[in-house]
Amino acid sequence: MIPFVNIQAQREAYREELEKAEKAVLESGIYIGGPEIAGLEAELSAYTGTNAVTCASGTDALTIALTALGVQPGDEVVVPDFTFIAPAECVARLGATPVFADIDPRTLQISPESVESLVGPLTRGIIAVNLFGQCAPYTELRKIAQHHGLWILEDSAQAFGATQCGKQACTFGDMAITSFYPSKPLGCYGDGGAIFTANKELAQKARMLANHGSEERYLHKVVGTNSRLDALQAAVLRVKLAHLDAELESRRKIAKRYNAFFADIEGLTPQQIAEGNTSTYAQYTLLVDNRKDFVAALDQAGIPHCIHYPMPLHRQPCFAEATSQHTGAQENAADMASQKAVSLPMCAFTQIEDIIGKLQKVL
Ligand SMILES: Cc1ncc(COP(=O)(O)O)c(C=O)c1O
Repeated sequence: MIPFVNIQAQREAYREELEKAEKAVLESGIYIGGPEIAGLEAELSAYTGTNAVTCASGTDALTIALTALGVQPGDEVVVPDFTFIAPAECVARLGATPVFADIDPRTLQISPESVESLVGPLTRGIIAVNLFGQCAPYTELRKIAQHHGLWILEDSAQAFGATQCGKQACTFGDMAITSFYPSKPLGCYGDGGAIFTANKELAQKARMLANHGSEERYLHKVVGTNSRLDALQAAVLRVKLAHLDAELESRRKIAKRYNAFFADIEGLTPQQIAEGNTSTYAQYTLLVDNRKDFVAALDQAGIPHCIHYPMPLHRQPCFAEATSQHTGAQENAADMASQKAVSLPMCAFTQIEDIIGKLQKVL
């Protein structure tokens, strides 16, 4: 069976390094904090040129970053309409209102025009998601943010290692986050996440919030939480980080092969990668005019697939109230994408020629 993401093949490829690193942690007696966490944070900081703070998940990273940025009940934060729920959910959990911006129908990234139209007196910031692995349009977003005095939080859960005009992802927002969920381009063997910022004060705040609001043992300056990456996951991530650039290269080659194959087929349009961007291809996603028939063909060929995402956030029942005050329920590009998007198997170990061979038989 073809895996959607072949985590086992990756483990096989680095087995010796992984087992050595895992054993060292298990035998060290240091399972929380310690040299593996410090080592990983130093390596993530060096990779991005920022200050990296690890935590328990991408979702926690968003909540911690939003808190550090000062989000209060009653604030509004602009969030893309077409993405995983986490960024909007974290805004709502803090008592603020997510306001949903439409997307560019080709790149599927947040639309700066839509963001601009939604900025009002209560708007405090923009969460830009680097959807499916490529960076959002930061030049335009930064202009809007500067003009209105807003911050940008860069959700790079799917795009650690992507670049825009030669600059690393996780460097475009005032703060940025990533997720180490196992199937992410840089994933561990459980939950994990990190926060990034060039601003030392914000990094310190994030670190304090993730550690019970404390910098000094049993002295709690603010109400924080417990959000820790554990040492075992850090050791795994350090092994995988050393292979990340080579893996991203393989992912891009696989995407190129998919693109070449689909170029001759009508009604199938791969997500466009914007000029100046390199993608991690966290997902290889197509927009398909007749998704029902295409999915049936994939099923017939035994090719796994996912729908990222079947419903725009403005239509989610949990956001009905937030939506009624803002965008309303009108049809937009996010609706189109949720009706047409299909993601295909993608990772550095995807057997692309096998998949293309199977596709040729059914398309
Ligand atoms: C865009 C985006 N943001 C945030 C998250 C949340 O990350 P985690 O699952 O590590 O909490 C995800 C996870 O899929 C995501 O895709």
